[in-house]
Amino acid sequence: MNDLLVSASVLSADFLHLEDNLRQAVAAGSDWLHLDIMDGHFVPNLSFGMPLIKAIGSLQICPFDVHLMVTEPDMYLPACKEAGASLVVAHAEACPHLHRFLSNCRQMGMKAGVALNPSTGPECLRYLEDVLDFVLIMSVNPGFSGQRFIASALHKIEQVRSLVAPEVRIGVDGGVNAEWAPKCVAAGADTLIAASAIFGSSDYKAAIAGLRGH
Ligand code: DX5
Ligand code: ZN
Repeated sequence: MNDLLVSASVLSADFLHLEDNLRQAVAAGSDWLHLDIMDGHFVPNLSFGMPLIKAIGSLQICPFDVHLMVTEPDMYLPACKEAGASLVVAHAEACPHLHRFLSNCRQMGMKAGVALNPSTGPECLRYLEDVLDFVLIMSVNPGFSGQRFIASALHKIEQVRSLVAPEVRIGVDGGVNAEWAPKCVAAGADTLIAASAIFGSSDYKAAIAGLRGH
């Protein structure tokens, strides 16, 4: 079983005090940072872009992943690499050539991940075993932080766990809090992504410990 990692999703940080917030989250026990890119087409929202990702990368405070909620994920790979991303995640629904996308991530020296919307089944992962490092189970419809966890994600985590190799990490993203986190871990998730549960708390350390079930 892979170690349990917590990744603070920057979307709910205080953008006016961003560096301070991110340093505090990492000091409080967040292993990774999760950076959400939205293009207003794949999801009905915009977040932030590559200049901010590069700025966060330049802090070098911990590894980070880029979650691409965009219609053309391949376009952003060089910038993700330049910013220092450890992992890039594209949506299966947005990417007709997933195998090529994942291969390109690896060739550029980054880990390669696939995100699945709540309504997307795990079958599309079946033929990716030679290029897949990470699966991101969306437990909300992507586009916004602060939404409620969709319970059917738990069964999907179990299905994905039995489908992919043991070393492939399974992350869960959306509505993850101290109530849902242990259920996700019991189902087979090893990476917990949370925005509001961490940045919405006045005590990041307690919030992250709560996600870990302590
Ligand atoms: C949603 C994003 C998530 C979001 C999670 O589209 O992909 O990473 O920031 O926010 P919470 O944890 O508040 O649901
Ligand atoms: Zn995300």
